[in-house]
Amino acid sequence: MPSSNSFIIITMDGGAAVGKSSTSKGLAERLGLMHVDTGSHYRTLTCALLGSGTPAEQGETISKVLETLELSTQIDGRSAKLGINGMVPVDSDLRSPEVNAQVSKFAAIPELRQKLFAYQRSLADLARDQNYAGLVMEGRDIGSIIFPEAAYRFFLDADEATRAARRAKEGQTDSIAARDEMDRTRQAAPLVCPRGATQIDTAHHTLEEVIEKITHHIES
Ligand code: C5P
Repeated sequence: MPSSNSFIIITMDGGAAVGKSSTSKGLAERLGLMHVDTGSHYRTLTCALLGSGTPAEQGETISKVLETLELSTQIDGRSAKLGINGMVPVDSDLRSPEVNAQVSKFAAIPELRQKLFAYQRSLADLARDQNYAGLVMEGRDIGSIIFPEAAYRFFLDADEATRAARRAKEGQTDSIAARDEMDRTRQAAPLVCPRGATQIDTAHHTLEEVIEKITHHIES
């Protein structure tokens, strides 16, 4: 068990609908951590760029629009949320069919990822300053690129039918297999299981079992 004054960083990577958010939020509650969903960061920038009429194919314009976007943070319960020019988009905008269809194209753009890199790393300092016991950050490249030095790195997976059923239950229109394919095959920070990460198949466990498994792993 980490000592009471040691700040911990947990990274939680995996494809779409593998259970990263529910697991990360549950761990944050259980261990007193700040929670960050970096998928929502990419969704927030996607909303901003689509709102400015910039499609993912217009590389040069994207760089110019990105320069005008100021990143900020709002803490909502245990979750730190990204704001753009002081505004945090509502969840229904972040998860609209259009954003679901476009986000992986924007997330493949190196300049856009670069815009988020230092910001995402700085959230560990924010969590420390706010006296959280640690940080749990979920995404696709957290254990490989953002916090490769983190002591606790996990990679969640589940079969495609289970994941599709989860999205359908949430009432979302989302081509998760296509998104995963784009995320896995892009040049910049592709979706990978970070070297040395603990892999967990969430299809055959309840959420409570997954949280218990991870907590046990950390405490031992
Ligand atoms: O987690 P979520 O499904 O909301 O992520 C939306 C998209 O954001 C992913 O499909 C991926 O393209 C991108 N993403 C990423 N790197 C992260 C988190 C998300 O490229 N760390």
